[in-house]
Amino acid sequence: MAHDSADVLDRLEREQATYLEELKDYLRIPSISTDPAFSVDVLRCAGFVLEQMQGAGLTAELIETDGYPLVYGEWLGAPGQPTLLFYGHYDVQPVDPIELWRHDPFEPTEEGDELVARGATDDKGQSFAQLKAVATMLAERGSLPVNVKFVVEGEEESGGEAIEAFVRADGGDKLACDAVVVSDSSMFGPGQPSLLYGLKGLQYMEIKVTGPNRDLHSGTFGGAVANPANALAAIIASLRDAKTGKILIPGFYDRVRPLEAWEREGWAKLPHDEEEYKRELGLNETFGEEGYTTLERAWARPTCDVNGLWGGYQGAGAKTVLPGEASAKVSMRLVADQDAHEIARLFTEHVQSVAPAGVTVEVSDLHGANPVLVDIDNPLAAAAMKAQEDVWGKEPFTIREGGSIPIVGTFAEVLEVPILLIGLGLPDDRLHSPNEKFNISHFYNGMRTIVRLLDRAGQG
Ligand code: BES
Ligand code: MN
Ligand code: MN
Repeated sequence: MAHDSADVLDRLEREQATYLEELKDYLRIPSISTDPAFSVDVLRCAGFVLEQMQGAGLTAELIETDGYPLVYGEWLGAPGQPTLLFYGHYDVQPVDPIELWRHDPFEPTEEGDELVARGATDDKGQSFAQLKAVATMLAERGSLPVNVKFVVEGEEESGGEAIEAFVRADGGDKLACDAVVVSDSSMFGPGQPSLLYGLKGLQYMEIKVTGPNRDLHSGTFGGAVANPANALAAIIASLRDAKTGKILIPGFYDRVRPLEAWEREGWAKLPHDEEEYKRELGLNETFGEEGYTTLERAWARPTCDVNGLWGGYQGAGAKTVLPGEASAKVSMRLVADQDAHEIARLFTEHVQSVAPAGVTVEVSDLHGANPVLVDIDNPLAAAAMKAQEDVWGKEPFTIREGGSIPIVGTFAEVLEVPILLIGLGLPDDRLHSPNEKFNISHFYNGMRTIVRLLDRAGQG
């Protein structure tokens, strides 16, 4: 018998304003995982999530790791029914440049339908919507139609090593489930839900070029001594063809799975407006790998980008100096079936092979995560799409994304179950940027979506 979820949705309607205030409390904790100055706050944030899980009626605990703890909770009172594992992260990105924020990033501020704060959409708002949906159902009915587990990590934004080690050691024991539900991405656009079936991987490298043992007078020594900044520029220029956008690292494309015809045809029909895309970003034209559209480049083709570049004189006016060293941070977004370790090796070999004479080049591996393509041809994915349709009145698009969630590839590999990537945010939520926001209506509709999913998943 199909459950229309009306009992729980009514209760949600009555409670949602209270939940919004609790979300604001969550957002007031500056849980920036990449900056050790915030470690006390990150730990306090784990405690907040733990209390929320307990308040929801889950059996919950902190799982200690070498890094920040995982917050784990479960309710397993529906034997014979599927088990859904909900994933989210309680850490957030740094706030810089702080001067561009309209308000304190950790004082959540309502601007019409928008709740503005660091972490509003990535991922506190979305993850909290998952938890509050379960809490509401348990409060209303005293039980759930399915079993649920939650694992919320505190290091997603800084590489996710703690959860990676835990999932591998656990090997699908504590985390055994029938599907993982991840809400840490966006819908295709306003009013248009989507189910993702692909995320990119990431390999992050740093290059340090060293030359003379000190900065030198560029007249006395220039021309006779290799310049590390020039050498670094040559190395970076060798990574990618400036005209075709192709990456020139030998072997880089060897394992890249080509786009399928149905994907290219399907995506070409999506309502993507290139002019609007350019206008929104302040661009005269887009640029990327020759032979692919903007959506194909962003979702399904690997990339190689400089994330930071320094060396030599950066102050006012001119200083004639030949710098003693220069560095760059370079990251590559990967697509199925590239392997992050292999790409790190190919990158390092290539950089060393093109290093000009007269300098020393060190390449280090900061972190990596594998790409993922998931199967959405299964009953739980169908239930997720129906749940989205129930709420938004539109069938979701099935698409891929260029972002990465490191643990998702590991979930797919170790747990061997479907992964449901149900983003609740919008593409303009400004994640990682100043004035990050989550639409309050999306917080509410997100909770409704999860309620519908629980009821639909329980009827299998
Ligand atoms: N939630 C994002 C990933 C994301 C964003 C997926 C938008 C799909 C759509 C996640 O928090 C994130 O920022 N990931 C990092 C991973 C990195 C720090 C290892 C990323 O993609 O840069
Ligand atoms: Mn996220
Ligand atoms: Mn993020």
